[in-house]
Amino acid sequence: MGEAVRVAVNGATGRMGRVLVDLLRRDRRFELVAAVTSPHDADMGTPVAPGSTLCFSHDWARAGALDVVIDFSGPDGLDAALNHCLAHKVALVVGTTGLGEAREARLDQAASDIPVLRSANFSLGVAVLSRLLRQAAAALAEWDLEIVEAHHGRKEDAPSGTALLLGEAAAAGRGVVLGERAVFAREGRTGPRQAGDIGFAVVRGGDIVGEHAALLIGQGERVELAHRATDRSIFARGAVEAAHWLAGKPAGHYTLDAMLAERSGG
Ligand SMILES: NC(=O)c1ccc[n+]([C@@H]2O[C@H](COP(=O)([O-])OP(=O)(O)OC[C@H]3O[C@@H](n4cnc5c(N)ncnc54)[C@H](OP(=O)(O)O)[C@@H]3O)[C@@H](O)[C@H]2O)c1
Repeated sequence: MGEAVRVAVNGATGRMGRVLVDLLRRDRRFELVAAVTSPHDADMGTPVAPGSTLCFSHDWARAGALDVVIDFSGPDGLDAALNHCLAHKVALVVGTTGLGEAREARLDQAASDIPVLRSANFSLGVAVLSRLLRQAAAALAEWDLEIVEAHHGRKEDAPSGTALLLGEAAAAGRGVVLGERAVFAREGRTGPRQAGDIGFAVVRGGDIVGEHAALLIGQGERVELAHRATDRSIFARGAVEAAHWLAGKPAGHYTLDAMLAERSGG
C-alpha cells in the first residue's frame, strides 16, 4: 500500500464534518492533518477526539502539507479552502451546496490549476438515480416532470443541490437547458402548467437527512423514482472515496460519475 493520503476537513465541527473526521481517523489510507472550523466555533482548540493530538483550528496557515481537502462548510468556508488549495496546489473535494454562479465559475476556473471534484450528493444511490432519471426523462419526453425534495429544518439552501443535480440530469435526457425549463415556485394564479416545465417542490422540517423523488406524470399513469437517505454517513463515505481517488490526479474537473465508471470498469 502507498503512503497515507494527507487530508484536511473543512467545516470539521458541522454535521457532515464530524462524521468525516470520525471516518478519516479510522481509515488507515489517510492521515488526518487538519480539522478546520469557522473562526467563531466554540470547539476551536479542542482535540478532534479524546486522546487525539489534532485540534480543531480555523487557521489554514497551521494546516501543514496536504494532498487533498474535503469541504463541507458553506460558501464562505469554501472560499477559504479554495484559496488554500490554489496557493499550495492541493486537490479539493467540494460537498458544500448552494454556491451561486460566481463561486461555481471560480471553481471551474480553479480546475485549470488543481484537481476539483464537486458533487451535490456523494451517495451511490443518488448517482444511480440520476442515471435512471436521465433515461426515463428521455424515454417519456412528453410526460410532466416534477422533482420533490425534503430536508431537515436547518438546511440553508433550496431547492437542494441534489434536486438541481437531478433537474440537470432530466434536462440532459431531454436535450434542454434546465435554466430555461425550471419552475422553482408556484403561488397565486399561476395559469396552467406549461409543457416541458421541470417543476421543483421543497419540504423542510425535523431531522430529515435527505429525500428526493422525481415524478414523471403521464395521462392515467405515473413513474416515481425516489431516494431516501436515513444516515448522513453515506455522503461522508462517498466523499472519502472521492478524496482518495482524486489525490495525486492532474489538475482538472472530475465527477463522482467518472469515479464510479472507472471503478466499475465502465
Ligand atoms: N454533497 C453532499 O453529499 C452533501 C451532503 C450533506 C450536506 N451537504 C452540504 O454540505 C454543507 C454542510 O452541511 P452540514 O449539514 O454539515 O452543515 P453544518 O452542520 O452547518 O456544518 C457546516 C460547518 O461549517 C462551518 N463553517 C462555517 N464557515 C466556515 C469557515 N469560514 N471555515 C470553516 N468552517 C466554516 C460551520 O461553523 P458555524 O456553525 O460556526 O458557522 C459548521 O460547523 C452544506 O452546504 C450542505 O448542503 C452536501
